[in-house]
Amino acid sequence: MTNEPIPDLGSFDEDSLAKAFAALAQQAAGEAARLDGPEAVEAFRLNWLGRKQGRLNEISGRWLKSAPAEAKKSIGQRFNELKKKVEELLDQASGAGPSDAALAAEAIDITLPGTNRLMGAEHPITRTWNEIVSVFAALGYSVGVGPEVETDFYNFESMNFPPGHPARDTQDTLVVANQERRPLRDRLLLRTHTSPVQMRTMEQQPPPVRIVIPGKVHRNDAMDATHSPIFHQVEGLCVDTNITFSDLKGTLDHAMKALFGSSVKTRFFPSFFPFTEPSADVQISCIFCGGKGCRKCKQSGWIELLGCGMVDPAVFAFAAEKQPAYDPKKISGFAFGMGIERIAMMKYGISEIGQLFAGDMRFLNQFV
Ligand code: PHE
Repeated sequence: MTNEPIPDLGSFDEDSLAKAFAALAQQAAGEAARLDGPEAVEAFRLNWLGRKQGRLNEISGRWLKSAPAEAKKSIGQRFNELKKKVEELLDQASGAGPSDAALAAEAIDITLPGTNRLMGAEHPITRTWNEIVSVFAALGYSVGVGPEVETDFYNFESMNFPPGHPARDTQDTLVVANQERRPLRDRLLLRTHTSPVQMRTMEQQPPPVRIVIPGKVHRNDAMDATHSPIFHQVEGLCVDTNITFSDLKGTLDHAMKALFGSSVKTRFFPSFFPFTEPSADVQISCIFCGGKGCRKCKQSGWIELLGCGMVDPAVFAFAAEKQPAYDPKKISGFAFGMGIERIAMMKYGISEIGQLFAGDMRFLNQFV
């Protein structure tokens, strides 16, 4: 880079000024044309525009100072023009001031169609989960959660499945390995149902309780059209004074009508769960044939949908160890548990549970 000293101005008439400034402009343009990289551009900037040693600074200092009063205005104007010109040169050299060709290359065609982005949608399991929860939220139930990796105590023992009890075999369990040295009650497993959160809830708060607990559960079941080793349940628990089986029936009859339509009927069929007494399976009138009998309901007119019952006093006894208010002489309650996949499959006419987990867009797009 040439760094010629700034000449002194001999005379201040317009002609001489024009010549002097033109020479400087030419010098700057010549230098700018030879800039060959970001470092050269930066050196050019410092040389011309630098606050202390920049040439423009020197010009304004020296020429303006020595100029007679009547020439100062003209020098000022020319100086500003020169500065603008140098800045333009700099912009071009550093690529900030795009050339026409650069502008054309960057131009977008606003008549082209825009980018289509896929909208997400609620998965049918999530949708059903939320629907069930809101039916009970409207009845004043709160919503709770519990851990998916659970202890033997909460999953089984406190739910009145004693060690070695045959009822444990109905929920084939996936256990966490290498825990033989722990006491049985502390050993970890993947919860087989959401019922352990009944106990966790009662340990945390005295009655009254009205809560639903949605969540993921695991069982060591082989996959088939209606079984999956991972599935979801919504647990319900209601404890207060004078809660009766009629309350249970009324609550679940309402819930089934809210989920499947007001013409649905319910019936309660004797069943067994260690943690409820009496226990029942809830059946709803077949939503496919209206109860007349079809292939879906195996000609019975009824479809079994969930388990329920009055909370067993033995369960209250476990809760009372931490919250004495769970005294079965003073309070009573009911519980229920329903499979979310099963309800989703009925509501949306899905015949294979695996479709809910396969991630196949041809299936999922039907729920957008
Ligand atoms: N936990 C039971 C199951 O998974 C369902 C259930 C919940 C039954 C609450 C009665 C009361 O099969």
